[in-house]
Amino acid sequence: MNKPVKCLISAGPTREWIDDVRFISNPSSGKMGFELASVAKKMGFEVTLVSGPVSIPRPDGVIYKSVETAIEMREVLVKLFPQSSLAIMTAAVSDHRPEFLGKKKVKKDEFPSSLKFIRNPDILQELGDMKSSNQKLIGFAAESFDHLANGQKKLEAKNLDWIVVNDISNPKTGFESEMNEVTLLSRNNEHFSFPLSTKRKIAADILNQVWK
Ligand code: CTP
Repeated sequence: MNKPVKCLISAGPTREWIDDVRFISNPSSGKMGFELASVAKKMGFEVTLVSGPVSIPRPDGVIYKSVETAIEMREVLVKLFPQSSLAIMTAAVSDHRPEFLGKKKVKKDEFPSSLKFIRNPDILQELGDMKSSNQKLIGFAAESFDHLANGQKKLEAKNLDWIVVNDISNPKTGFESEMNEVTLLSRNNEHFSFPLSTKRKIAADILNQVWK
């Protein structure tokens, strides 16, 4: 019996803690990554879904790794990537984390009026640098202007095979919506537009194009 091909997917937001009771995050629902995981499982992949905190049901039959911070997400993805033939990174990873103020609830009178931020690792860039010729790596780009040009830059800089460009200024799509509308760009300048539809349909369109 042939072994199933391994597909690694990241999803959701990360939480970057300020102290034990406060964090910085973003409104990513995880839906796009969860739909990709569900469709990939139905296509026959062995799917590992690495997700930040979300409140949607886990897809059936996938290996689920729950993480909180960008640092934790990086550790799990860097470990699992070498065994994966296909990796799709949808997570809204926080680019920065605040300097951690300590393992207690900082009292209001002691809370600083400004926070210092530290750059988080760019996980997708690291995976792109590690990638071998028998692996396919797909990124997402959240853009509010010059979408395609910025997407193309990320595709090349991060050594990706494909990038899914999202226009986050469109109120009909994006973070918490059931719907999405994206453009898929390839390394060889191929260009596919997927019109407004459910995230499930967009997930199927993406997978059918990147895994032929
Ligand atoms: N990403 C990542 N690690 C980060 C930031 C982003 O792995 N620290 C991944 C995301 O999962 C996504 C891709 O990189 O697949 C692009 O994320 P995006 O937020 O659009 O771009 P950035 O690289 O953060 O660039 P910028 O914020 O300048 O647009």
